[in-house]
Amino acid sequence: MKTLCLYYTRTGSTKAAMEKLAQVLDADLAEYTDGKDRSGVLGYIGACFVSAKRTRVAIKENVDLASYDRVIIGMPVWVEGPCAIGRAFISQYKESLKGEVYYAVTHMGKGTYEEKIKAMDQLLGRPSAGQISMQTKEHDYLKDIEEFAAKLNV
Ligand SMILES: Cc1cc2nc3c(=O)[nH]c(=O)nc-3n(C[C@H](O)[C@H](O)[C@H](O)COP(=O)(O)O)c2cc1C
Repeated sequence: MKTLCLYYTRTGSTKAAMEKLAQVLDADLAEYTDGKDRSGVLGYIGACFVSAKRTRVAIKENVDLASYDRVIIGMPVWVEGPCAIGRAFISQYKESLKGEVYYAVTHMGKGTYEEKIKAMDQLLGRPSAGQISMQTKEHDYLKDIEEFAAKLNV
């Protein structure tokens, strides 16, 4: 199955998870971004106020989204839900996502944000195939993503 792992990252956690996933699944890997520098305290504060409706995102690598049987979209939680950059990606690219879509979401706290992650199906316009919610702080989330990958590979 031709698979693409996509990620948006501010501090590297989602990138690390999606790199591991791509490695285990032998999938392609690409980054999407709104092109804004969100480093440091000012970047953090700015991230709290990003609107998905007004944000434009682009994939850094040259990939043909429509050619993939499975696309797994990685993003962090910002302010109690999947970040605006990830939600903007889904809204903007949904027509090109022809195969199965999965969400892979990272967050610091213990909550799983399952309902808010699943709610992104409204943006996608159809049911996603599955999701993983990973706690990054003081938790081996790379092990979580390996287990998730093992289930996808069966
Ligand atoms: C603006 C902002 C808001 C955040 N809000 C939450 C939150 O509500 N709950 C949570 O568990 N983590 C929250 N986080 C932490 C990130 O979700 C977590 O550190 C994530 O793994 C970062 O991914 P990244 O390293 O790929 O950017 C927030 C981070 C930022 C920058």
